[in-house]
Amino acid sequence: MKLPDHWSNDLSKRQHRGEYRSLSLSAIGIDFLSNDYLGLAQNIKFQRDLLQLLHGDSRLLTGATGSRLLSGNSLHCTQTEYFIAQKHQVESATLFPSGYKANLALFSCIAGRNHTILVDEYIHRSVHDGCRLSYAKKKKFKHNDVSHLEDLLSKTKGRVFIAVESLYSMDGDFAPLVEIVTLAEKYSAWVIVDEAHAIGVFNRGLVNEYGLQDRVLARVVTYGKAFALQGAAVLGSSTLKNYLINFASPFIYSTAMPDFQILCIEEAYQFIEQHPSLRKDLQHNIQYFRQHSVHSLSDDKSPIQVVQFPSLDHLHQAVGALKEEGIYTCAIRAPTVEVGYERLRITLHQFNSASEIDQLVSIIKNYQHEY
Ligand SMILES: Cc1ncc(COP(=O)(O)O)c(C=O)c1O
Repeated sequence: MKLPDHWSNDLSKRQHRGEYRSLSLSAIGIDFLSNDYLGLAQNIKFQRDLLQLLHGDSRLLTGATGSRLLSGNSLHCTQTEYFIAQKHQVESATLFPSGYKANLALFSCIAGRNHTILVDEYIHRSVHDGCRLSYAKKKKFKHNDVSHLEDLLSKTKGRVFIAVESLYSMDGDFAPLVEIVTLAEKYSAWVIVDEAHAIGVFNRGLVNEYGLQDRVLARVVTYGKAFALQGAAVLGSSTLKNYLINFASPFIYSTAMPDFQILCIEEAYQFIEQHPSLRKDLQHNIQYFRQHSVHSLSDDKSPIQVVQFPSLDHLHQAVGALKEEGIYTCAIRAPTVEVGYERLRITLHQFNSASEIDQLVSIIKNYQHEY
């Protein structure tokens, strides 16, 4: 069969630019790469607690058999949503099988033709993709730049939605949430916060930490990172939930999550709450890393620490040298970030040891010396 010509052209262009993506098996080594911030993916006690949930009931393991509007809405699902809403001090929670799907569902339907969605330029791809399915206009504001946001708010006609992440994975910095929410109130705009990287790391997320739950329109919390599971929830008013049920295609036209996955989410909330030492150990490791005076662009409480090098070559050499020692990090390259802004992303975990962090830092410093 003759394949479309542009496939091979596009792939070879990517290869030529050094931006080609390919799959490899997940690494076994020193982990400064995964999103398993609290170490739950390797916590035997947590894993055993999850197994206990089954109580020998193998029906829990199979799929939901349909969309939630047809055969797929279980009692476990509605009870867990109620539990999640209570935890986050909000009227409703709506579960989705992933954060990507939650953002796709939310942003595809909440805004109409006369609305504008202002997104931070570093917002996650799933938000952009959700906006592409929407009739609303989308504009970007400069990363965490409240004056640029205000400039756009003052010039935009019609109602505005503002989309931010509470902790950004590209820079490892926090959104100035209080300032953004205050500004939004001044212009009668609505704020939506993606808490994918903050939930768990900061218990129920930064919106709850700052007491902003009644001042944001919606939040997305995801369970694939610190919770070491899968899935996500959209948090907001009961009307928002009804709106999603009626207008969000990814909710309506897709099979619901399996019950076991849902029960695991509830268990993880409890486990994280009952083990505050996991969060403390993580923060301890972040502080230990920061004490080494590595030139990092990130916030000093962030588990994501981003490091730049004098050139792309230095970055590639550093990643290679780390890999040789079995240390896994992530080089973030174009097109994920702009050319010239390539960086190394280090993800710190509760379980990283001091000697692992020492080893990581000493290799990085060999390639960062000109900074
Ligand atoms: C900010 C943000 N939102 C949403 C997602 C998507 O979440 P999930 O992996 O559960 O699809 C991610 C995952 O990378 C993310 O970083």
